[in-house]
Amino acid sequence: MSTAVERRERLKEVYREASQCTRCALAETRTTVVFGAGNADADLMFVGEAPGANEDRGGLPFIGQAGRLLDRLLEEVGLVRGDVFIANVLKCRPPGNRDPRPSEIDTCREYLHRQVELIEPKVICTLGNFSTKLLREDPTGISRVHGQAEVRLLGRRAVTILPIYHPAAALYTPRMLDTLRADFALLPDLLAAPAPPQPDPEIFEEPEPEPDPALAAAAPLDAEPDPAATAADGADSAAAKDLPAVNEQQLGLF
Ligand code: URA
Repeated sequence: MSTAVERRERLKEVYREASQCTRCALAETRTTVVFGAGNADADLMFVGEAPGANEDRGGLPFIGQAGRLLDRLLEEVGLVRGDVFIANVLKCRPPGNRDPRPSEIDTCREYLHRQVELIEPKVICTLGNFSTKLLREDPTGISRVHGQAEVRLLGRRAVTILPIYHPAAALYTPRMLDTLRADFALLPDLLAAPAPPQPDPEIFEEPEPEPDPALAAAAPLDAEPDPAATAADGADSAAAKDLPAVNEQQLGLF
């Protein structure tokens, strides 16, 4: 069991790691890694698709038109951004806002699982098809499952998932706003209900690997650090200094 402070510190480490991520080619075209923002101990998380142009510039999720609608819908159920944590399936903008590719989703999903494990939300609202399919691990589209809450295991955490249409859908199809409102109206009761029971952590424990006698002989554990490796670490942190400035205070983690 970790405290909220410990979990937030670990979330900051995940943020620092993600903000230098080069695991996929989106690292070459993004301006900023959009890690997510909000309350690091939130009961409610939202998971959108991927940053758009505004988010790519600003380093924060949902700061364009869809974000303003999300704020309005939150307010209508008595919530503000500071109550929730907002993240995306992809942490980097796909060029021209194209759809996320399966390989990108697969590469990035570990960050989302770590966010969920550290924030420990009771409820996750998946916004639109990409996050709904990813977190439900099922290809059924949002039009068939929106508004239907269910408990799923995400990484090591059991969470109530509530699929909801992406707010951008209501920007293009105004009658969708009624559907979004009806689905948002389910949130207060879901948040008031007890959190789903968590699985026994022992089921995730991996057996200790047997030490490899050949490796142990070649590199004793108390060996001096390799100066070349230390120099490379220094180069990494120098590269980090060239990253575009994100207002870290606005992430809600610092
Ligand atoms: N759409 C998303 O899915 N995520 C954002 O952060 C912004 C728009």
